[in-house]
Amino acid sequence: MAEHRVPHLVVFTGAGISAESGIQTFRASDGLWADHAIEDVATPDAWRRDPERVLRFYDMRRDQVRRANPNAAHEALAALEKQGFRVSIITQNIDDLHERAGSRHVLHLHGEIVKARSSVDPRMHYPLPCGGIALGDLCDKGSQLRPDVVWFGESVPHFGAACEIAGQADLLLVVGTSLAVMPAASLLEHAPLDAPCVLVDPEANALVPPGVTAISQPAGKGVPALVRHWQSEGRLWLPEAVLEE
Ligand code: APR
Repeated sequence: MAEHRVPHLVVFTGAGISAESGIQTFRASDGLWADHAIEDVATPDAWRRDPERVLRFYDMRRDQVRRANPNAAHEALAALEKQGFRVSIITQNIDDLHERAGSRHVLHLHGEIVKARSSVDPRMHYPLPCGGIALGDLCDKGSQLRPDVVWFGESVPHFGAACEIAGQADLLLVVGTSLAVMPAASLLEHAPLDAPCVLVDPEANALVPPGVTAISQPAGKGVPALVRHWQSEGRLWLPEAVLEE
């Protein structure tokens, strides 16, 4: 019997995939980093200087995530997996919208806002089904809990695993990222040379590195359009009809 290999889609997402769910991106003129200085809220130094301020910043973002729902882009990717495609998602996002849409293979490069972690042992994670983190909330080793996110200046523990996954892609779909943050953005270089790579982002034309195809559309339009083509043919390809829209 001939072996039927399931096509493997690797998806690399950034804040733009959650924009239509009402979650702020970072580098737009009205983005998060326009109102909050990175060095005040998202570095180990900020945490040492003023943990209360850092906790309040992540409480605000956690509330925003809890109020949000997955959009058509998250849902299309989950539906593709449900149909039998192999879909691996590597996300820079700390929200849980891919999981809530139904995707089962999601790697969070920059952590997860719906979890806390020990400030002395990064392996100790605690789900936060409701509420936030207060000063005085301790891990099982007696140290203060902190958001389970990767701050600027910290290493990205899952980057090696993400590179391995990218290296197995039949097609790499990149969605809603300015590709401004390393090492995450260098993930594209780990896809096999013969795997097509496409970026869906309203600013795609300005952002694409050489060899990457630009689809200058919002995620909620561009991703479901691609997924419909893949579902109807049972294979991963870059249809002219979508590229020309
Ligand atoms: N659909 C798709 N993309 C969109 C949409 C949309 N509806 N709206 C905006 N975008 C795009 C923007 O054009 C931009 O290219 O989303 C991208 C968001 O870029 P950034 O704000 O830089 O977010 P991201 O690339 O995810 O940032 C990477 O930086 O601050 C850190 O840790 C944070 O994980 C984050 C990392």
